Amino acid sequence: MNHVIAIDGPAGSGKGTVARLTAKRLGFRYIDTGAMYRAATLYIRRQKTDINNPAAVTAAVQQCSISFSLSEDMQEQYVLLNGEDVTEEIRSPDITCLVAPVCSIAGVRTYMAGLQKAARDMGPLVMEGRDIGTVVYPDADLKIFLTATIDERVRRRQKQYKENGIEMDFQQLKQDMSQRDMIDSTREHSPLKKAPDAVTINSDGMSVEQVVDRIITLFREKTAK
Ligand code: DC
Repeated sequence: MNHVIAIDGPAGSGKGTVARLTAKRLGFRYIDTGAMYRAATLYIRRQKTDINNPAAVTAAVQQCSISFSLSEDMQEQYVLLNGEDVTEEIRSPDITCLVAPVCSIAGVRTYMAGLQKAARDMGPLVMEGRDIGTVVYPDADLKIFLTATIDERVRRRQKQYKENGIEMDFQQLKQDMSQRDMIDSTREHSPLKKAPDAVTINSDGMSVEQVVDRIITLFREKTAK
């Protein structure tokens, strides 16, 4: 069975960067499951599917094709929706606001978890999200729960937006992020939750390299046995 490292945690905890670099150092594939939910949400919006109709949303999500591609130098990962590059569009503030209700729908989650489970057949991977260690890969070789304080997470998200040319107000972002954390952690299906056997890393005051080093050390310790 191919190795899997599961990294879960709230928005802005640094999961994306950490998971991507960990995968690169180990030569594993990297899968951002939040991007899958975001791409599905973009599809729902484009199709004008009624977001309050769970059966219609689930049926629409099952119709769209979501895939990833890598740039030639393997540094950039692109998210494709029905073959179209939507990497930037899925990070827009309006998709960010719409995504939590879409991923609260049981049918959407079951379908996505199926796709995510199948990914292991293609090789070892680092997968990041909210329910990877609890639902998708309860048998992962290593489970990490990555956190940081809310202010630190908001600062990181604000910086990410700025790099994409979008100015966001700190307090507004903090309110949106807290709201999304609340929906993600209290929803009925696959809420954001630390798996009992996950290792918690609080990344406040740690560099990305330090977090990645720690994960790789833990992975080597676990798999050496
Ligand atoms: O990590 P992110 O901000 O790109 O995630 C987008 C949304 O998707 C967020 O509201 C949480 C949700 N999500 C989820 O419910 N389950 C996952 N495995 C990954 C993300």
